[in-house]
Amino acid sequence: SMLVRSSASAKQAAIRRTFSSGSVPERKVAILGAAGGIGQPLALLMKLNPLVSSLSLYDIANTPGVAADVGHINTRSEVVGYMGDDNLAKALEGADLVIIPAGVPRKPGMTRDDLFNINAGIVKNLCTAIAKYCPHALINMISNPVNSTVPIAAEIFKKAGMYDEKKLFGVTTLDVVRARTFYAGKANVPVAEVNVPVIGGHAGVTILPLFSQATPQANLSSDILTALTKRTQDGGTEVVEAKAGKGSATLSMAYAGALFADACLKGLNGVPDVIECSYVQSTITELPFFASKVRLGKNGVEEVLDLGPLSDFEKEGLEALKPELKSSIEKGVKFANQ
Ligand code: NAD
Ligand code: LMR
Repeated sequence: SMLVRSSASAKQAAIRRTFSSGSVPERKVAILGAAGGIGQPLALLMKLNPLVSSLSLYDIANTPGVAADVGHINTRSEVVGYMGDDNLAKALEGADLVIIPAGVPRKPGMTRDDLFNINAGIVKNLCTAIAKYCPHALINMISNPVNSTVPIAAEIFKKAGMYDEKKLFGVTTLDVVRARTFYAGKANVPVAEVNVPVIGGHAGVTILPLFSQATPQANLSSDILTALTKRTQDGGTEVVEAKAGKGSATLSMAYAGALFADACLKGLNGVPDVIECSYVQSTITELPFFASKVRLGKNGVEEVLDLGPLSDFEKEGLEALKPELKSSIEKGVKFANQ
C-alpha cells in the first residue's frame, strides 16, 4: 500500500507539473520603447502574463524606474530594465518575442506617414540590433507608420541574412479591438462575443474592417456599415484629437499589443488554432505586405488565411486602399536600401 500511495502521489506530482507554471516554457519578451506611453502599460500587462518568464524593458531613458516599479508585482516573470544603446544587446539576447513601440506619436493634424522621418531611423537601428542579438525572435512592430516600418524591418533583416517572413508582424490588433467595440455598440450584441476581421494596413483608408464577416451577425443598414467603417479607419485620429497634442492611443494600444503578444506566445507554445489579424508578408493580394487573418504557431505565421467573401462595399474598399498601401511599402523598402 506504500507503493500504491507513492505511485499515486508521483502521478499527482506529474499532473501538477503538467498544469503548473513549471511546465510552461521559459519565454523572454523584450519591449523596446518600454518607458513610453504604450511601453509602460504594455510592460504592466506583459508582467501579468503567466506565459512570460523574463521581461526585458529597453528604452533610451527612464527604464530603471519602470522596471523597478513593474518588477515589484508578484507574478512569474523576472523584470530587468536596460537603458541606452550600450545595453541593447543584453536587452535582446535570448528574446523569443520583441515588441517595438519605440518612436514618436502623432499630434493633431499629422498623418502616420508624417512620423516616417523620425521613426524609420529608430526602427532601422533597432532591427539591425535584433538581427545581431536575437535573430530567431518573433517581432511585433507597433511603431508607426506600420505600413512602412514592417517593410523596413524586412529589408534590414534581408541585408543581415536572417529574414524569416514568418516571424515579422505589424500589429493591427487595435483596429480589430476598435471594430469590435464600435460594432457591438451598433449591433446591440455583447461586446465580449464580437469578432471582426480587419484587413489591409494600418493607416486611414488602408484599414478595412470586414463587417460583413462580423460575428455575431446583425442586419445593419449600409449607412451604419459605412459609418462604422469610417470610425474604425479614423479611430486613431479620434484619440489623437481628444488628447489634443499629448500623443495618441496608449492604453487601448497596450491592451491590443498585449493581446497580440499573448497570441504569439500561445502559438510558440504549440496551442492550436490561434488566429489573429496581422500585417505580414503576404501573397493573398498583389501587395507584398498585407494585413489579414493569420494562424500562429511554433514558427510564427503558420498560414495566411484567405480574405473570405467580401461585400461589394468591401471590394471597393480593397481596391481603393491598394495604391496608398503600395506606396507606403515602397517608401519603406527604399529607405532601408538607401
Ligand atoms: P511615446 O513618445 O510616449 O513613447 C515612445 C518611447 O520610445 C519613448 O519612451 C522613447 O524614449 C522611446 N524611444 C525613442 N527612440 C528610441 C530608441 N531608439 N530605442 C528605444 N526606445 C526609443 O509614444 P507612444 O505613444 O508610446 O507611441 C509609440 C509609437 O507607437 C508611435 O510611433 C505611435 O504612432 C505608435 N502607435 C502604433 C499603434 C498601432 O496600432 N500600431 C497604436 C498607437 C501608437
Ligand atoms: C492608432 O491607430 O491609434 C495609432 O496608429 C496611433 C495613431 O497615430 O493614430
